[in-house]
Amino acid sequence: MRQYIIAGNWKMNKTVSESVELAKAIVEAVKDVKKTEVVIAPTYLAAAKVADVIKGTNVKLAIQDIHWKDQGAFTGKVSVDMVKEIGAEYIIIGHSEQRQYFHETDETVNLKVKKTLAAGIKPIICIGETLDERNGGKLESVLSTQVKGAFKDVSAEDAAKCVLAYEPVWAIGTGVVATDEQAQDTQAFVRSVVKEIYGEAVAEGMRIQYGGSMKPGNAAGLLAQKDIDGGLIGGAALKADTFKGIIDAAEAR
Ligand code: PGA
Repeated sequence: MRQYIIAGNWKMNKTVSESVELAKAIVEAVKDVKKTEVVIAPTYLAAAKVADVIKGTNVKLAIQDIHWKDQGAFTGKVSVDMVKEIGAEYIIIGHSEQRQYFHETDETVNLKVKKTLAAGIKPIICIGETLDERNGGKLESVLSTQVKGAFKDVSAEDAAKCVLAYEPVWAIGTGVVATDEQAQDTQAFVRSVVKEIYGEAVAEGMRIQYGGSMKPGNAAGLLAQKDIDGGLIGGAALKADTFKGIIDAAEAR
């Protein structure tokens, strides 16, 4: 059985002090959570302090992005060694906001995935289609290209450490959630692409999160789907109680 993974992506929200406060509230809220893996992704600026807050708890640290180079003249960027030093266990890669606004491509996603894996950190690789792509009949080709691009030259052994996050772009931050059936059908397809590349065992073991307006009220339905193994949560992760509401839905499974 795949373990549920509920990850809060705080995006560009919360100052350092607010982040520390939210992290403390989450630690308290989830202290009895046993089955579900709980992950939070604060901003770069707050990450080291949040790491101190969650040390020794059942909450794990993710970083929202990295650069694929080791170091050097890359103003504004953060390297994998920097995030490794503070104990990050996951790195979110290829979020649609990165793809849309910051020139992320399948090639840069792939470079980041390989760099992350080489450092012993687990990538959460985001994929997803726009509404135009879905309506234009391109859903499968878009997702297949993104998955194959992300995993180019990645061994099966390394791929098995990755988490995928299927996030339909039209559902992110819009309040429009994919139906349980749309999410399930799409994620089953995504798993079939992983199977095509790596075979049955890796595909069946890989956790695929759903992301896009997941809330306590719709989480149970989504998480009940066979191919949905957790959530990547934006808005609802910014408050401990709503985040916990989603974790409860996973724990109840
Ligand atoms: P949302 O964001 O939950 O606010 O829709 C999800 C995400 O972008 O990871």
